[in-house]
This record gives sequence, structure tokens and C-alpha cells, in this order.
Amino acid sequence: MIIAIDGPAASGKGTLGKRLAEHYGFAHLDTGLLYRAVARVLMDRNIPLADREAATEVALNLDVSHLEDDSRLRGAAMGEAASVVSAYQPVRNALLAFQRGFGAQASGAVLDGRDIGTVVRPDADVKLFITAAPEERARRRHRELLGRGEQAEYERILEDIRRRDERDMNRSTAPLKAAADAVTLDTTHLDPDAAFQEALKIVEAKRP
Ligand code: CDP
Ligand code: CDP
Repeated sequence: MIIAIDGPAASGKGTLGKRLAEHYGFAHLDTGLLYRAVARVLMDRNIPLADREAATEVALNLDVSHLEDDSRLRGAAMGEAASVVSAYQPVRNALLAFQRGFGAQASGAVLDGRDIGTVVRPDADVKLFITAAPEERARRRHRELLGRGEQAEYERILEDIRRRDERDMNRSTAPLKAAADAVTLDTTHLDPDAAFQEALKIVEAKRP
């Protein structure tokens, strides 16, 4: 069983994906980490993010183990950098096989990202499109940063979120959008528990 979760930044994809995977005993992949990791390697080597060839080379040779544990991949700056390299078609192609094969050994898999239901796993059994108002998403990120003791300005975060939404939705390759057969879940007024309960109903209704 494959569950695809797509949606914009800080809509709650990761939190929900993790909980669904735990509930069903499925494998979970936060696909944003792949693009974050490509950007990270380029930055470590002082290669500009605008270098498509280099980005593609890095994506083709990416070590996909332990991405979950790499704290350097978190944070707004890496999200922004990821959204630059993720717009390159050859980079996306390079990361496709891994995402398509993910979870083959498990009884099921949950993948979250931007194009899971549309490109990576169009065959998914359940497709969720998670949204929330930009202001609420900015509040969440703001809370997260303050909780980690980092400096953060709400207005700046909101601006970043809007810019990233814009870039992800309007790129020519695998733009962020709901698959035709996705169920949209607006979490603006739902806390993580409530969002999980709603998602569970949707998944249960679709379970073969
Ligand atoms: O957690 P957040 O939604 O802020 O970011 P993320 O999911 O880690 O994704 C970072 C960036 O990677 C996004 O802004 C997208 O540009 C890109 N991405 C993508 O293009 N396709 C995916 N399946 C996942 C992420
Ligand atoms: O993966 P994505 O960027 O879509 O979002 P996330 O990392 O799952 O969630 C971003 C932040 O919002 C986390 O701190 C979550 O605890 C919080 N959150 C929330 O307040 N309400 C929700 N319904 C979902 C997530």
C-alpha cells in the first residue's frame, strides 16, 4: 500500500506522514530531504546553486542513507536552496528511481513531497493534498524556530513561504499541484492530532 502526501511548505506533510507510517507500520520517506541534500553538497563544495550540471552530477551520486539524521538539512535556508535545485529536470530525474523503489521491502510506504501523487507514485493507493493558509504555515515555522532557540521574524518567514510556494507551483517541471484523484485536507484550523484523525478516515475509506 502506498500513501502519497503532497502540499506546500509547513502544511504538515512530514508530521502527518510520520504518524501514518507509525500507525500502519509502513516505511516513510520525506522526499524534500533529497533536494535539501543535493543543495547541501553543492554549498559544501562552494559550487553555485545555479550550476545545473554540477547539481545533476551530485543528484546522480547522492548518498541517500541517514538523511533523516542530518540536522544541517533542516531550516529555512536549506528549504530555499532545495527549491532552486529541485526546479532542474535532470536533478528530478536522477532522484526518481530511488523514490519509485522506496518501501518495496515493507508492507507499505508513505512518501511526502510536492509531486508524489502526480509524478513519483501516480499509482498510489491514497493521495492526500495537505494545505493550510500561508499565515498559519508561517506561524508554525515561526514557532518551530523559536522552540529551537533560533532568531526568527514572522514577516520574513511569511515572505519566504510565499516565494517558495510561487516557485514550486509555477516551475515547468513537476509543479506543486494536487493530483486529479487526490483528497485535499485543509489543516489551517487543525492541530497535528486532528489532522491525523481526518487523514486516517480518508485512508481507511480507500484501503483495499
Ligand atoms: O518541509 P518543507 O515543505 O518546508 O520543505 P521540503 O519538503 O523539505 O522541500 C524543500 C523543497 O524541495 C521544496 O520547496 C521543493 O522545491 C522541493 N521538493 C520538490 O520539488 N519535490 C519534492 N517531492 C519534495 C521537495
Ligand atoms: O512537512 P511540512 O513542511 O509540510 O510540515 P511539518 O514539518 O510536518 O510541520 C511544520 C510545523 O507545523 C511542525 O512544527 C508541526 O508540529 C506543525 N504543525 C501544526 O502546528 N499543525 C498541523 N496540523 C501540522 C503541523
